[in-house]
Amino acid sequence: MDKLIVTGGFPLKGQVRISGAKNAALPLMAAAILAESPLKLTNLPALGDLLTMGRLLRFMGGQVELGRLNANEAELDLTGLARPEAPHELVKTMRASALVLGPLLARLGRAKVSLPGGCAIGVRPIDLHLKALQAMGAIFDLSGGDIVARAPEGGLQGAEIRFENVTVTGTENVMMAATLAQGRTVLANAAREPEVVDTGQALRAMGARLTGLGTDTIIIDGVSSLKGASYEVMPDRIEAGTLLAAVALAGGEITLLGFPHEALATVLAKLRATGLTLTPQGPDLVARAPATLMAADVITQPHPGFPTDMQAQFMAMMTAARGTSVITETIFENRFMHVGELRRLGANISLEGRTAVVRGVESLSGAPLTASDLRASASLVLASLAARGESQIHRVYHLDRGYEGLDRKLSSLGASIQRVKA
Ligand code: UD1
Repeated sequence: MDKLIVTGGFPLKGQVRISGAKNAALPLMAAAILAESPLKLTNLPALGDLLTMGRLLRFMGGQVELGRLNANEAELDLTGLARPEAPHELVKTMRASALVLGPLLARLGRAKVSLPGGCAIGVRPIDLHLKALQAMGAIFDLSGGDIVARAPEGGLQGAEIRFENVTVTGTENVMMAATLAQGRTVLANAAREPEVVDTGQALRAMGARLTGLGTDTIIIDGVSSLKGASYEVMPDRIEAGTLLAAVALAGGEITLLGFPHEALATVLAKLRATGLTLTPQGPDLVARAPATLMAADVITQPHPGFPTDMQAQFMAMMTAARGTSVITETIFENRFMHVGELRRLGANISLEGRTAVVRGVESLSGAPLTASDLRASASLVLASLAARGESQIHRVYHLDRGYEGLDRKLSSLGASIQRVKA
């Protein structure tokens, strides 16, 4: 397993381009199942999770050429879809595999998808996905750890569905299923995340009829078939936010090219409150670190609130800020695994239930660290940029699942990061 060696104390300078969004690319790849001709995606990030989704679609009989035309483009041809199954080996490495369930039911009327288990950041069931698909007439059996699903005779039926909780992939799964259902589906308490909007826009380009994207009510009128299209994946707001946290911790000034301004509005407001100077320049953003980083509180919420996927990185910032920050995690029940590792760098953090109280310290000092999940890994890299001396971060495969060359991008900005290959 690769590890990263980070030496803190090097300010960042220069410019870097934001990659395509992982959490938009995954549902968009699943959407190819719905189409009767190939779907071309551009601006795809080169990530472990996308390779897993590619393997899954190929397992089903699809032709998926990731990186054939260009490293960031793919053509997904699911016209030969023959085996509507998502096996455990693939689902266990990536919960987002569940995103194929809705499209398979809609297109073929049957699916067998291994039930995703618990994962490092919490229980994360898919009961809300299943309940919504049941309301559309789907029938589920559990056999050998697999969900065996079929659509009613005549296919899925439009339905009025209210999600008990906001669920991002749940909204995407059911939205995709509804595009080919009979009649109208109304999704209430739907997720408003920009990646849901991006998925919906691609579905429209494929011929789907849907309105209300970006609001909490999405209305989908089923059509008899969808065709392929060419679609550019939105930039990754979480990668962009992570790089802003990096400059806050390391110091310096950077320009982020192709910045998702609107999708990150809440995060930008919070970062400004900590002292960062953030100046939009057309499609780009110039970010300058303050002389003294100030503490601020955050509560994670569904979009447009502060994203849970930025919580660990924000906490890393707060370990080195002046003052005390209260960070409350409301989305996942166990998303503080980075706390123990940040403490190893000298951070002062106390935990009570879903709340972390972070008292900024004068200085952090490098230590050996172990990554536990994707965003936790990022927070360890970030805090190491501010720490005196050397940190070694083990298990960076978590980072590589969701960031396209974060270590390479930070190095190009002047950080001292070496990857040691296993
Ligand atoms: C997606 C993102 C992930 C992000 C999360 C929250 C992708 C591929 N992943 O994950 O990066 O952290 O949104 O913004 O887009 N829940 C249930 N039952 C369900 C579904 C969800 O109880 O059927 C709960 C979850 O356990 C969690 C909360 O609802 O506590 C939100 O989860 P959800 O929005 O579904 O997260 P994901 O879509 O898995």
